[in-house]
Amino acid sequence: MRALTWHGRHDVRMETVPDPEIVNPRDAILKITSTAICGSDLHLYDGYIPTMRSGDILGHEFMGEVVETGAKSTLKKGQRVVVPFTISCGNCFFCQKTQFSCCDNANPAETSDASETLMGHPMGAAFGYAHLTGGYAGGQAEYVRVPFSDVGPIVIPDGLEDDKVLFLSDILPTGWMAAENAEIEEGDTVAVWGCGPVGLFAIQSAFAMGAYRVIAIDHYPSRLKLAKQMGADILDYREVEVLEALKEMTGGMGPDAVIDCVGMESHGMSIDNVVDTIKAHAYLATERPHALRQAIIACRKGGRVSIPGVYGGFADKFPLGQVMEKGLTVKTGQTHMQRYLRPLLEMIGEGKLDTTFLISHREPLERAAELYRHWHDEQDTYTKIVLKPEMAKPRTQAAQPAMATA
Ligand SMILES: NC(=O)c1ccc[n+]([C@@H]2O[C@H](COP(=O)([O-])OP(=O)(O)OC[C@H]3O[C@@H](n4cnc5c(N)ncnc54)[C@H](O)[C@@H]3O)[C@@H](O)[C@H]2O)c1
Ligand SMILES: [Zn+2]
Ligand SMILES: [Zn+2]
Repeated sequence: MRALTWHGRHDVRMETVPDPEIVNPRDAILKITSTAICGSDLHLYDGYIPTMRSGDILGHEFMGEVVETGAKSTLKKGQRVVVPFTISCGNCFFCQKTQFSCCDNANPAETSDASETLMGHPMGAAFGYAHLTGGYAGGQAEYVRVPFSDVGPIVIPDGLEDDKVLFLSDILPTGWMAAENAEIEEGDTVAVWGCGPVGLFAIQSAFAMGAYRVIAIDHYPSRLKLAKQMGADILDYREVEVLEALKEMTGGMGPDAVIDCVGMESHGMSIDNVVDTIKAHAYLATERPHALRQAIIACRKGGRVSIPGVYGGFADKFPLGQVMEKGLTVKTGQTHMQRYLRPLLEMIGEGKLDTTFLISHREPLERAAELYRHWHDEQDTYTKIVLKPEMAKPRTQAAQPAMATA
């Protein structure tokens, strides 16, 4: 089959690789119909996530048709399913508590040992996301193996096209959990850093949970425009001093809750960010947490800090004193996907959530490698890329040898 593989920093390639096979009775094999590129994929593309290996298949946002099932899978051939990006067993201590992204059984011992050294405890598992999280092949491919297929995937009813439900695989539940973690109360003012897909869905969710006002911060005009269309007030951090602007907009109080939808690769030319960038390029640091520092300093006393943005290790100059002295609550984590799939699918079906407004490009999977470059370099134009393996597929392709396109 054809798949997008990682070979190093800024080096991903479309290649021909072996088809996946059932290896456990709970597995299923999907034929991918739609898959998307995520902001989290950029952290891999930029080489910031350790334990990637040359040839790893990327992609953790995907859906498709069930083409093969193991003896203990509850899926049936021909069903259309969306698969959550986290892999969970459904039975362990954490899954029983619905803390699905903390699952103790999905990350194989040999890889979880490495994550235990780094994190203190073994990490959960995810598709297409480094060997620290299990080294599972991802879904930017024609086919994918889905472990624990009786726990993760959600069956999609007929009549809901792929584009409406694909983002159940990650960014829609992630935006929702980000707003939930911000513990929004009716009438709150919520500030959201980053208007990428996660930020946009966090804004949508914050309003759905009763926020009176959402203030969205970014610097890409097209992304800020989308945030504005959703009802947010917007701040371009290149044009205004964000901390001053937020104080002024909230009568000196600061926002009730702040949400960091940027993560470990904050942009900007503030002194802390420049120092972080130099250290990251010298491999002396993993994080560039400028937006998180700013969010914590902006947050009102007694407020809430929600961090869906991904971080990988030890952050420098973390404003711990500000968290403590202002009495802030901090909540974070990889999304506990299975908690949110059914309720969000119902909301999509009832037309209560628009999930397609952020798709800027629908492209053939075969173009994935060049689209990673665009996604990295032109975020103002590329808000969200959806890849379709069947789209404009050249007829002769199956006969071609493995070939790098990047
Ligand atoms: N917790 C989870 O389970 C989970 C799931 C999916 C994604 N994520 C993470 O969420 C984050 C966002 O994902 P995405 O797909 O929206 O990514 P993205 O790269 O498309 O968007 C990030 C946005 O942040 C903006 N930004 C950068 N620096 C900023 C600053 N200083 N102030 C304000 N905005 C700034 C960028 O301009 C960009 O628009 C990433 O870190 C991603 O890894 C987490
Ligand atoms: Zn994602
Ligand atoms: Zn589990």
